[in-house]
Amino acid sequence: MSNYFPAEKFKSIPTPFYFYDMGLLEQTLQKVKSESDKYNFVVHYAIKANANDRILERIREYGMGVDCVSGFEVKKALDMGFPAQGIVFAGVGKADWEIEMGIDNNIACFNVESTAELDVINEIATRKNQKVKVAMRINPNVKANTHKYITTGLDENKFGIHQMDVEKTVDAITKMDFINLEGIHFHIGSQIMDLSSFSALCERVNEIQDWFEEKGIALKTINVGGGLGIDYNKPAENPIPDFENYFRIFSEGIKLRPGQEIHFELGRSVVGQCGNLISKVLYVKEGVKTNFAIIDGGMTDLIRPALYQAYHKIENITSNGSEEKYDVVGPICESSDSFGKDIELPKTSRGDLMAIRSAGAYGEVMVSRYNLREEPKAYYSDQL
Ligand code: LLP
Repeated sequence: MSNYFPAEKFKSIPTPFYFYDMGLLEQTLQKVKSESDKYNFVVHYAIKANANDRILERIREYGMGVDCVSGFEVKKALDMGFPAQGIVFAGVGKADWEIEMGIDNNIACFNVESTAELDVINEIATRKNQKVKVAMRINPNVKANTHKYITTGLDENKFGIHQMDVEKTVDAITKMDFINLEGIHFHIGSQIMDLSSFSALCERVNEIQDWFEEKGIALKTINVGGGLGIDYNKPAENPIPDFENYFRIFSEGIKLRPGQEIHFELGRSVVGQCGNLISKVLYVKEGVKTNFAIIDGGMTDLIRPALYQAYHKIENITSNGSEEKYDVVGPICESSDSFGKDIELPKTSRGDLMAIRSAGAYGEVMVSRYNLREEPKAYYSDQL
């Protein structure tokens, strides 16, 4: 299923385009559901990973909540029919209109990242005479062992309330008439393959919970964020991430108090493997050191390799010649517009189709129109 590329049908579609394997998405969602249901965990889908309508429709059918990071994401989730009561809203820089919108729509919870933000939420809530539920996003200073640009839970990162400031923030909240402290929130980073990072997070959560208990504060929700990684090297062999062990770590690791719920915010692990960028080879150019396969998809269509030096597996899905090495590059006027160096591919020529794998998360949502390019369209396995 995860290798379903109807190359013949692709030939009549203008390239580059996103191609989603809807069967794989379905299987992934089933796995998330069955593994999280074992422990009554609550899963919010991190809509920043992919906000494509058809993908969102499928996710909604599985009864997930949504994790948003902008007012426009909140609006999108509501427009797509997700219940407001499943929406959580994080972000270090929520604008006033975004806070107002969240309050007006009665979303489940604001994950607040500073006392300055709390002051503004309280001011708006007071004006509206409406109580607002918040969770404190605490920066746990836990190493995620991932790329530095997608690490979020260290002291030097801008996210969350520093542990040193937790007491001060709690004291401030108790003086705010319109703020209800629902819980605590964490997110240590993304594309985490070493599950021991999550065990370390559990330990930190337990320490912090003990502190709240000593203070006599009961917390309803413990939100541990997202971050579970996917196998970019072997998408066909490992299309579905290890949700079983991931959820088990939290069920064994976190000391839950009676009536408490554990919440998750999963993005990449849900949608990453079902998406591919399909692109056509325009030219093969012999370079001094290497051959370039120049494709019509570029960093404007999938920015991860250029931005994070991220690896995405590239497959030539129309040739079965003998293997040769190529630098696979796009047409954009930037040297960083490259999808990979010295990639072994079957002999490649003009007109061949390439699949850039594992592009379902942070692919289509990060498209830009630099060089005034058109945004790539999306196609779906159940419609071809
Ligand atoms: N919760 C919060 C508060 C987050 O900041 C994020 C991701 C998530 C949940 C979802 O994390 P996931 O399960 O997808 O790892 N554009 C980058 C990734 C940025 C992640 C930002 N935050 C990339 O392409 O790798």
